Amino acid sequence: NQNHISRNEKLFEICALLKNNIEYYNWVGFYFRNGEKEELLLGPYVGEPTDHTVIPFGKGICGQVAVSNQNFVVPDVAAQDNYIACSFTVKSEIVVPLFVNGANIGQIDIDSHVLNPFSEKDELFLEFVNQEIAKLF
Ligand code: SME
Repeated sequence: NQNHISRNEKLFEICALLKNNIEYYNWVGFYFRNGEKEELLLGPYVGEPTDHTVIPFGKGICGQVAVSNQNFVVPDVAAQDNYIACSFTVKSEIVVPLFVNGANIGQIDIDSHVLNPFSEKDELFLEFVNQEIAKLF
């Protein structure tokens, strides 16, 4: 019906809310596992368009989190060797996995134009956001 808001619309609104309210969150998006394939697909996001709509497991920060099931905070992307650059304006990144019933189904990915902006507070906050999002699945 007309009042139905899809999960992807909700995820998009969450991206917009985060980007618009936290000044050092400059790109906010979700990647999700593509079925049983060992690759991530870009989901809803807010910020500059990216060419990286498919990321194999193990590649870049996102692909590493798909395998490690751990938060990944990158204070300075220039110091990372396994990193996929989306834009030269990006200086740092945080990726927090999204678990549904214990399974890592994807992640929230945030890029910043600021060096070293992410603290444990961001990790705890984004873990909470992902726990709430998991209820949509
Ligand atoms: N930098 C990411 C790629 C995704 S873009 O940040 C949107 C990475 O290294 O996995």
